[in-house]
Amino acid sequence: MNEKFQGMMRTELDRLEREGLSVRIRTLDSEQGPACTIDGKYVVNLAANNYLGIIGRKDVKEAAKRAIDEFGVGSGAVKTIIGNTRLIVEGEKKLAAFKQVEDVLMYQGGLTANSGTIPALVHEGDFIFSDELNHASIIDGCRLSKAKIIPFKHCDTKSLQEKLAEHEHEPGTKFVVTDGVFSMDGDIAPLPDIVETARKYDAVTMVDDAHGEGVLGDHGRGIVNHFHLEGEIDVEVGTMSKAFGVVGGYVAGTHALVQYLKNKSRTILFSSTITPADAGAILKVVDILTESDELVHKLWDNATYFKGKMKEYGFNTWRSETPITPVIIGDGKLAKDLSSRLFEKGVFAQSLGYPTVPKELARIRCMLCSAHTKEQLDFAADMFRESAIELGILKG
Ligand SMILES: Cc1ncc(COP(=O)(O)O)c(C=O)c1O
Repeated sequence: MNEKFQGMMRTELDRLEREGLSVRIRTLDSEQGPACTIDGKYVVNLAANNYLGIIGRKDVKEAAKRAIDEFGVGSGAVKTIIGNTRLIVEGEKKLAAFKQVEDVLMYQGGLTANSGTIPALVHEGDFIFSDELNHASIIDGCRLSKAKIIPFKHCDTKSLQEKLAEHEHEPGTKFVVTDGVFSMDGDIAPLPDIVETARKYDAVTMVDDAHGEGVLGDHGRGIVNHFHLEGEIDVEVGTMSKAFGVVGGYVAGTHALVQYLKNKSRTILFSSTITPADAGAILKVVDILTESDELVHKLWDNATYFKGKMKEYGFNTWRSETPITPVIIGDGKLAKDLSSRLFEKGVFAQSLGYPTVPKELARIRCMLCSAHTKEQLDFAADMFRESAIELGILKG
């Protein structure tokens, strides 16, 4: 054991603890639903990305079980060796039809989709124009590519245009990448303007639809459908780990893009595929969404209801336009205290502080789900109000 190395880690952990930045990882003791048992306590759950309540659905669980019975529990290898089960192939076809694209390639998650796709498409000598609030997995993908990374101001197409213009006459691919829905603020990228701006400079466009999948667009088809931009975006990335309730990711686009990534993407070539259970569940979820948009409507109804109630109580929900509802507290310690107080009262909502969000914008992020009942949402909002008054955040 290298003592110096161990000591370096202990020192850093002590600092994180002292500054209140150390992660606190809770343990889920039950199936995850709109309410569940965490660390032995039954709480209303406002922390999950399970937007459509899929995790606990009987028909999806049954589809996953059937997949296990037919194909076993693991994928056994990467896609290009023997990990490409028939379920994955069918899932890619179904998802392509649902997303109204030529082709889809399944990844193991949104992170591996981003970190495996971007470096396969752009390289040293190219330019990536990236929204300054893009998700960490996009940032990692950009760094791995060795292209020059040029951040533009958040959701600001004027800033994007200026940056593109500065590099207009330099050789190399120009690649514009943005989150669709921003995971910390819940706002939506101005995708039509981004596409138009990119086109002026002959740039390639990529959107990460992780939080738009199952949430935005007709039947939850995502941000591209929401803005009627079918056929306009070069690369669409998404995850199955949020609204779809399982684990997995994908890239959607042309046959050429998918075929290219099968040959070039390192997370396809060097990491095993999703499990049969995940693939079986994905097939079922696409069927559910294709058949009905009821869950998507319920989700938005709940989100509007909860946000309205929180605003009425005097909370600041920032620039949220989606079911991601940040409640801005300001001070990091106070946000943590509020989250702990809420937990004691039976509500689980995660606090987020620096460096995940700016120091002065610490918050509690509330994630709404179609399966929440109005009673659960009333209870959660009331506990927010009661706790915030107790901590001096709101006036009584
Ligand atoms: C915008 C965005 N992209 C990608 C990911 C990663 O997805 P996954 O959990 O499937 O790896 C996340 C998850 O937090 C995300 O919010």
